[in-house]
Amino acid sequence: MDTQRFHNKVIIVTGGGSGLGEDYCHGFASEGGIVVCVDIDEAAAIRTATALRETGNRSIAVPCDVTRTHEVEQMVEEALHTYGRIDVLVNNAGVISRRSLVGTTDEDWNREIDTDLKGPFLCARAVVPHMMERGYGKIVNISSVAGIVGCISTAYAASKAGVNGLTRQWALELAPYGIRVNSVAPGYTATPINEKLRLTPAAKRIGETIPLGWGKPADITAAVLFLSANESDYITGQTLAVDGGLTTTVDMGPEYRTFDT
Ligand SMILES: NC(=O)c1ccc[n+]([C@@H]2O[C@H](COP(=O)([O-])OP(=O)(O)OC[C@H]3O[C@@H](n4cnc5c(N)ncnc54)[C@H](O)[C@@H]3O)[C@@H](O)[C@H]2O)c1
Repeated sequence: MDTQRFHNKVIIVTGGGSGLGEDYCHGFASEGGIVVCVDIDEAAAIRTATALRETGNRSIAVPCDVTRTHEVEQMVEEALHTYGRIDVLVNNAGVISRRSLVGTTDEDWNREIDTDLKGPFLCARAVVPHMMERGYGKIVNISSVAGIVGCISTAYAASKAGVNGLTRQWALELAPYGIRVNSVAPGYTATPINEKLRLTPAAKRIGETIPLGWGKPADITAAVLFLSANESDYITGQTLAVDGGLTTTVDMGPEYRTFDT
């Protein structure tokens, strides 16, 4: 396998300051990629970009709230001004509130839909004209198993199912320009976003009902890098669940898996 799949390619990773996004940044850089690390948390973005530069890679941190059109446009301008091109956009920044339908406030709804659904739209709209000009590009949207099955909450389910819809729509529209668009739908993966959940007994039960248990950031990163690399050029419009089998099985736990007795 080519171990420098991103040699001299410029990759924007939103939410690159923490969790999965931080792991993708390291993955891209380890294969020669130039990473534009974007995060609303400026200190976190700087931490990731600095760590990449300290290991000899090229990277900048750009503080940006992906829900704000102007900030997103400035972020894309800065990436182009610094590196002259954008090859890959990973729409990863996201938030979760675990709320019931009736417990979802207007503020919860707006915050999640704005970050998890409008954010990818704003970033893609700002980046795509440059990819169109060059006739090549890759967009990887980070969805969730919650966009495929009911498992988290109202606004999160709506935003992640919406991301899968955007992926199919953009795949159709952008294919003539050589731009491939896919989603990765992670399952339960240990990151800061589910820190509170992992401190509860539910975390163990969740792990027991997923055929392959909880995931690691590296599991998700492998899929994101594959869909960002040339080797996946004939794949577009897909949502790849990287979820240890969660969305493909009905598994009630270890006793349920006692077959042939
Ligand atoms: N960890 C999981 O189990 C899991 C499962 C399914 C999907 N996901 C998705 O993966 C993505 C990354 O999640 P994570 O687990 O790494 O969480 P995380 O909380 O560790 O990272 C999210 C990052 O996004 C940034 N961010 C939040 N709002 C932003 C905004 N408005 N503008 C710019 N940056 C913003 C945060 O500052 C943070 O650095 C999210 O889209 C999440 O929905 C995660």
